[in-house]
Amino acid sequence: MFAFNFNNTTMHIFYGKAALRDYLKSIKTSNSTIGFVPTMGALHQGHLALMQKSLLENENTVVSIFVNPTQFNNPEDLAKYPRTLQEDVKKLTALSPEIILYAPTVADIYDGQPLSQSFDFDGLENQMEGEFRPGHFNGVGTIVKRLFEIVEPTNAYFGEKDFQQLQIVKKMVAKTNLNVNIIGCPIFRESNNLAMSSRNERLSAPEREEAAIIYKTLTIAKEKFETNSAKSVAKWIQKSFEKNTHFTLEYFVIADEATLLPCVRKNKNKKYRAFIAVFINNIRLIDTISLN
Ligand code: PAF
Repeated sequence: MFAFNFNNTTMHIFYGKAALRDYLKSIKTSNSTIGFVPTMGALHQGHLALMQKSLLENENTVVSIFVNPTQFNNPEDLAKYPRTLQEDVKKLTALSPEIILYAPTVADIYDGQPLSQSFDFDGLENQMEGEFRPGHFNGVGTIVKRLFEIVEPTNAYFGEKDFQQLQIVKKMVAKTNLNVNIIGCPIFRESNNLAMSSRNERLSAPEREEAAIIYKTLTIAKEKFETNSAKSVAKWIQKSFEKNTHFTLEYFVIADEATLLPCVRKNKNKKYRAFIAVFINNIRLIDTISLN
């Protein structure tokens, strides 16, 4: 264990699972709960909001910071993913020195070569992110399951920006009978409504401003979906991105929230969501909005 002192407050940091587990065992009481927020670091207000909720709802809160290699299908994305541990520790200590940080090494998580387990998420893994990032959700399932086994949380908190990931984690928990409540939390947005993401750190100031177009597009899609089919909304979005020289649309999909299958014909008993992924200057950004 490592105790980090900042502004005269001390936070517990663990780099290895054995010491973390011993510590959690030592502070556990018969009815205390552990809230858990898994992250890949480069913490922003969206992460801190998840932690705030966990601190309010649990006796203990564990945060993990681990850039998980097995969920990256693009080596350049992995290499360029922001790693800002010192800054992150300062943010965590300022939020609450009671937070217990687990910042493992790759060797602490994966014995030998980092490899993914193969999961069946009943088809949730084949849509959108799954289609464009082969292997991504096997990597997410592998790391989240491993972290749950180490931390043994009562409640785990995930942001709705990665809505497909949230559904997949819920499915994984249901299928593996892990005893943890998965809690989805609303998206945090910058002042121009760009969804907060660690990848935003890679955007230049003008790119960050321009990226407001992503949420703007989603709100227009929501409006159009009231009176148009999913197909015609998607066509309109594709056309509007064809004219845009800075952003490349990877996908825009209107899908059923539960199955994530694309909406072919509207059914008023179903809940729909629009999902978008775009590239700006090789930086991939995603966002989503509930439509009804
Ligand atoms: O959403 C993320 O940051 C990651 O996918 C997660 C859940 C921490 C797993 O690496």
